[in-house]
Amino acid sequence: MPALVLLGAQWGDEGKGKATDLLGGSVDYVVRYQGGNNAGHTVVVGDQKYALHLLPSGILSPGCTPVIGNGVVVDPAVLLSELSGLNERGVDTSKLVISGNAHLITPYNITVDKVTERFLGKRKIGTTGRGIGPTYADKINRTGIRVQDLFDESILHQKVEAALDFKNQVLAKLYNHRAVVAEQVVEEMLGYADQIRGYVADTTLLLNNAIDDGKVVLFEGGQGTLLDVDHGTYPFVTSSNPTAGGACTGAGVGPTKISRVIGILKAYTTRVGAGPFPTELFDADGEALRTIGGERGVTTGRDRRCGWFDAVIARYATRVNGLTDFFLTKLDVLTGWEQIPVCVAYEIDGKRVEELPYSQTDFHHAKPIYETLPGWSEDITKAKTFAELPKNAQAYVKALEEMSGAPISAIGVGPGRDETIEINSFLD
Ligand code: GDP
Ligand code: IMO
Ligand code: MG
Repeated sequence: MPALVLLGAQWGDEGKGKATDLLGGSVDYVVRYQGGNNAGHTVVVGDQKYALHLLPSGILSPGCTPVIGNGVVVDPAVLLSELSGLNERGVDTSKLVISGNAHLITPYNITVDKVTERFLGKRKIGTTGRGIGPTYADKINRTGIRVQDLFDESILHQKVEAALDFKNQVLAKLYNHRAVVAEQVVEEMLGYADQIRGYVADTTLLLNNAIDDGKVVLFEGGQGTLLDVDHGTYPFVTSSNPTAGGACTGAGVGPTKISRVIGILKAYTTRVGAGPFPTELFDADGEALRTIGGERGVTTGRDRRCGWFDAVIARYATRVNGLTDFFLTKLDVLTGWEQIPVCVAYEIDGKRVEELPYSQTDFHHAKPIYETLPGWSEDITKAKTFAELPKNAQAYVKALEEMSGAPISAIGVGPGRDETIEINSFLD
């Protein structure tokens, strides 16, 4: 069982951080393969709570080597501050390895992200404002700056100047923003070089050798399937591929090496930022899910939009990721509802639709068709086995499994490492 992918099956914030941390003790490498510090992964270890944005959650497991793959976009200031924050709390971060091919988020990428959103007005995406989209745009446009460029001053100069030649025109003429001075950017970036140099290595070689040697490698996704730039609710998405294929391109590991793909699935649904969300609730139930579930963004502090579980989305995640298992999280949050509606299909223009429509217009028109399942009132946070769950909670899990198309192999009943029911081992 050498290589596993663990990814979000909905719109992010499913509990990936907790799930990765839980497995971290048994795996040799945890690899981030896409996204950047737009992610917010919460890990609770005993009475300590950690909020990680850029670093892989495996950094909290002493035996594990955390890796930032080539597909990630790295804000060097955030990287160093996250590392020093962990060091101050006694976490050893010395094993971290960073791909020299990962792209850097520059200060002007952050500026462009913010001014673009402002310019879009009502049509804005609701990005995290961390420069993610503009950095990936530069990468695809072949005007990006990579981690390895920090170690060649003359190349760094040339690349920053080339990027700014065009960008400054746009900033000044379209957004009425002052031009960015290349010299200042280069100076700031060079200031990070020496602190980052020691972490940089050929991560594809490292990871492929590790897999060939039978080591266990876990690829940890940021964001979620419905935020994927190809498979999500475009244009209300992030600018990378959190879906399973992204692990291959974002880490330089072939698909034949991946043995298991685990979808992290919240027992209800949340979303941050703009875009369609068929089961979104605007009533007291939505407010209750937000309050009980603590649904507030780890990165931006924004309230998350909340709604009932959507099985159409779960089925879609199974399909586009080739999921082998689900890890169902936050089942405890649903305790206390007498009845729990679950969306089983959509009604679109008067027709029942079982699969996620490929047309954006249809998805915007989708109305959820609900089936209602009986709830439970018993505290489930101490349950250690499936049998210890109340009968109605068991039936809820079984119904979700049936609708979603892959086995539910673990269930989260609280934020802590030990608040988990393991049904099938992920590492067999
Ligand atoms: P991520 O971005 O997918 O890592 O998820 P976030 O950390 O942004 O949000 C998930 C939140 O739910 C965090 O506050 C976790 O501590 C918490 N959490 C994870 N699993 C569970 C669970 O099973 N029950 C409860 N009550 N909280 C959980
Ligand atoms: P984790 O890893 C939830 C959302 C933003 C916005 C859209 C684009 O914690 O699950 P971006 O800054 O990426 O260009 O914003 O994507 N978004 C997330 N939503 N969880 C995340 O990460 C997210 N990362 C980005 O809110 O709608
Ligand atoms: Mg999050």
